[in-house]
Amino acid sequence: MRPASRLVSSLFFFLSYSNILHHLQAQPSTQGFTCPANQRSFPCQTYAFYRASAPNFLDLASIGDLFSVSRLMISKPSNISSPTSPLIPNQPLFVPLSCSCNTINISTSISSANITYTIKEGNTFYIVSTKYFQNLTTYQSVELFNPTLIPELLDIGVEVIFPIFCKCPHQTQLQNKVNYLVSYVFQPSDNLSSVASTFGVETQSIVDVNGNNIQPYDTIFVPVYQLPQLAQPTDRALKVNRIGT
Ligand SMILES: *[C@@H]1O[C@H](CO)[C@@H](O)[C@H](O)[C@H]1NC(C)=O
Ligand SMILES: *[C@@H]1O[C@H](CO)[C@@H](O)[C@H](O)[C@H]1NC(C)=O
Ligand SMILES: *[C@@H]1O[C@H](CO)[C@@H](O)[C@H](O)[C@H]1NC(C)=O
Ligand SMILES: *[C@@H]1O[C@H](CO)[C@@H](O)[C@H](O)[C@H]1NC(C)=O
Ligand SMILES: *[C@@H]1O[C@H](CO)[C@@H](O)[C@H](O)[C@H]1NC(C)=O
Repeated sequence: MRPASRLVSSLFFFLSYSNILHHLQAQPSTQGFTCPANQRSFPCQTYAFYRASAPNFLDLASIGDLFSVSRLMISKPSNISSPTSPLIPNQPLFVPLSCSCNTINISTSISSANITYTIKEGNTFYIVSTKYFQNLTTYQSVELFNPTLIPELLDIGVEVIFPIFCKCPHQTQLQNKVNYLVSYVFQPSDNLSSVASTFGVETQSIVDVNGNNIQPYDTIFVPVYQLPQLAQPTDRALKVNRIGT
C-alpha cells in the first residue's frame, strides 16, 4: 500500500470506529434519537407497533389516516385478513414508516418518520403525541421539528410534523441479519421477556440495542430479521366484542 492510501484507509477506519462509538453512546433523549448524518442505510422502510384504541382508532381507516398510509399497508404486515373489519381495543398492529435521518442543526441529526397531522379542536403537541401516537414521539421532539410554531398558540387546521421515532439498522446489524428495528413503546405491564417473546427474539438482543434501563412509555427498537406474525383475535371474538359493546 502506498503511504497516501494507507493514510486514507486508516482515516476511514478511524471514522468508522467513531461511528461505532457514536452508536454505543447514542442515548434516548426526549428530543429524539440521534443518527449519524452519513449512515448509508438511511432512509429505510420500517414499522411501528401500534395498539388499536377507543374511541377514535378502532378501524384501519382512521389509523391509516393518522399515519398517512392505506388500510392494506397496515392489514398485510399485521396478519389481518379483512382490512375493513373493525378492531378491538389493544389489538396489535404493525404500521409501516419511512424512516429518515434529519439534520436539525450543524451538530445534531435525528431519525424519524415525519407524519403531517392537521390540528383539531383541543389538540396540543402533548395530547397528540401521548394519546394518538401512543408515545411513539414526544412533545419535545415535536417542538424541535416545528421551530416556527408556538405550542401554546396552535390554530385549528395548522399542519404539524410529528416525528415518529424510528431507526434504520446500521451495516453491522444488516450483516447480522437485522433487517428492521421495529419501534415499540414499552408498556407498564411489559417486561423484557414478554416483549422478546412477542417478537420471537432473545431478550439480550433488545438490551444490546436499547440498554437495560428501559422505562415504561420509552420507545425501544426491537431488532428482527422479519416481522413476527401477530396473533389476531378470531372473527368470533370480534363478533362477541361488538355485541358486548
Ligand atoms: C443542535 O440541536 C440540539 C438539539 O436540540 C441542541 O442540543 C444543540 O445545542 C444544537 N446545537 C447547535 C450548534 O445549535
Ligand atoms: C404515554 O405516556 C404517558 C406518560 O408519559 C402516559 O400517561 C400515557 O398513558 C401514555 N399513553 C399511552 C397511549 O399509553
Ligand atoms: C422531517 O422534518 C424535518 C424538520 O422539519 C426536516 O428538516 C426534514 O427534511 C424532514 N424529513 C423528510 C424526509 O421530510
Ligand atoms: C413477564 O410478563 C409475562 C406476561 O405478562 C409474565 O408471565 C412473566 O412472569 C413476566 N416475567 C418476569 C420475569 O417478570
Ligand atoms: C394469524 O392470524 C390468524 C387468524 O387471522 C391466526 O389463525 C394465526 O394464528 C395468526 N398467526 C399467528 C402466528 O398468530
